[in-house]
Amino acid sequence: MKNFLIAGNWKMNTTTGTATELVKSLITGIDKDVPEVRILVCPPFTNISSVAQALSDSPIAVGAQNCHFEYKGAFTGEISIPMLIDLGCSYIIIGHSERRTYFHETNDLINKKAIAILTAGLKPIICIGETLDERTAEHTFMVLEKQLSVCLQNIEESQIENIVIAYEPVWAIGTGISATSEQVAEAHTFIREQLINKLGKKAESILILYGGSLTAENAKEILKIKNVNGGLIGGASLKAESFLSIISSAQSLV
Ligand code: PGA
Repeated sequence: MKNFLIAGNWKMNTTTGTATELVKSLITGIDKDVPEVRILVCPPFTNISSVAQALSDSPIAVGAQNCHFEYKGAFTGEISIPMLIDLGCSYIIIGHSERRTYFHETNDLINKKAIAILTAGLKPIICIGETLDERTAEHTFMVLEKQLSVCLQNIEESQIENIVIAYEPVWAIGTGISATSEQVAEAHTFIREQLINKLGKKAESILILYGGSLTAENAKEILKIKNVNGGLIGGASLKAESFLSIISSAQSLV
């Protein structure tokens, strides 16, 4: 049986009012609780507290979109993992392509964050994926291999089960053009092989999410692909209707 994680990445979009309204619609809209389908929302930092409060009696988990790798100190403007634990976060997205592109995050930095998150007992959602130029040059697998090997350096065996990987081809993010089923299947199979290669048999259970223009319309087709264990959803997670539809697609597949 497949397990899924359906995660909404709200990016820099909500305010207290719109965030609370969105989660309220999600709570009332979920028609069943299927434990094999975990649901997560990752609001902007400033809305995590109110969203966590609104979700306190629901099966929906709360996560963050970024963190610093140090637990405290003189890092003006940064947010630490203990602060996010304090707010009720259980997942943290790291290495999103927007952070790699606009904030120059490297695989080494993402590795430091992954280790800090795992050591604190939380689950990192480590984003990887190739750009259009890299795909056109047929460098996709090379790029994915490099991202995985650096981002997963020095992970302890006991931490493997808490790792989540999100395969997000950069050219598919926010463009309305998702990867084809063949491209998703090929990439996810490759990622699974690499994970097992690097981390051993325990890596068979690591959730590998697909992200990049995942919508209510294409969710079922993508989620049923082997080695796809959920989705990281941007645009379609900002509307309760489309996010709920993606959740029920996953629920229909378990
Ligand atoms: P998208 O974003 O669903 O809007 O393409 C996905 C992501 O950036 O995680």
